[in-house]
Amino acid sequence: MRLPTLAAMSTDLPDADRLAAGRLRLAVDGVLATITLDKPEARNAQTPTTWRVLAEIGAALPADVRVVVVRGAGGTFSAGLDRTLLTPGGSGASGGQESVADLLTASDEEMSAAIDAYQRGFTWLRDPRFVSVAVVEGHAIGAGFQLALSCDLVLAADDARFCMKETALGLVPDLTGTKPLVERVGYPRALEICATARTVGAEEAARIGLALGPVPAAELDGAVAELVTALTAALPDAVRETTALLLGAAERDLETQRRLEREAQTRRFRELAGLMGG
Ligand code: CAA
Repeated sequence: MRLPTLAAMSTDLPDADRLAAGRLRLAVDGVLATITLDKPEARNAQTPTTWRVLAEIGAALPADVRVVVVRGAGGTFSAGLDRTLLTPGGSGASGGQESVADLLTASDEEMSAAIDAYQRGFTWLRDPRFVSVAVVEGHAIGAGFQLALSCDLVLAADDARFCMKETALGLVPDLTGTKPLVERVGYPRALEICATARTVGAEEAARIGLALGPVPAAELDGAVAELVTALTAALPDAVRETTALLLGAAERDLETQRRLEREAQTRRFRELAGLMGG
């Protein structure tokens, strides 16, 4: 069988047709980029094309973008993978999509390469040059939960419901969600959430460190705007350098971390001196 290869990374943002194929909307407004999963009739179910187009957005995002907001249309974040694609030959809720079940006829290497391409739709959201924020209303299931976890911050509406459904389907979470889940809630809680595939409500998500909020759904847009303003108030490189320090902190030893702090601070002093004409 012929497996699709990773879409060639271009320096141009995906055009309207490409975004429509991934059922995504993209708005870039100065320092803010907003990506909206836009298949509300199927609760924003995702497809491999969604993930490929997400990766293309990540590869071409303008350098001055400081905040990337990811949200879902129609009051739900995302019901995860389009389940019709798990049926051999299934072509997606809206037709014409590459089937995930067809991976069964691929070799292990081909299967791994296809999943690697899918994962790239998620990994770019950890780039320290911007802060990514998942705004979760309603359901974030499976791939939807993992997309939210790929973002630096999750802002939960009071009706947000998170569920790692993969184990209940006989699968594992493979769209890069396991690492941020463990980092945010710890191994025992992460295991319990994944192995039971239970639903975590907004209050609990906030309590265990998964999400900010909860925010009343009616106030969500205002809360997002406030958060974007607050995240962009400081100098861009002060936030970028701090993000990079924090992102890798858990994996570094103290000696390495304090060296990186010194190096970053030296760059900060130099930039500030330049700004003050020093
Ligand atoms: N894939 C395809 N279509 C979906 C879908 C999905 N994941 N989730 C919902 N839809 C469709 C429904 O089939 C329905 O379509 P019709 O109107 O044509 O019948 C429409 O969206 C509305 O769905 P509901 O009536 O069920 O809406 P609801 O608000 O009552 O419930 C829901 C919402 C709780 C999300 C429920 O739809 C649901 O449980 N969906 C399935 C979730 C799921 O199992 N996702 C896969 C997780 S695994 C994964 O993502 C990762 C992986 O790689 C395997």
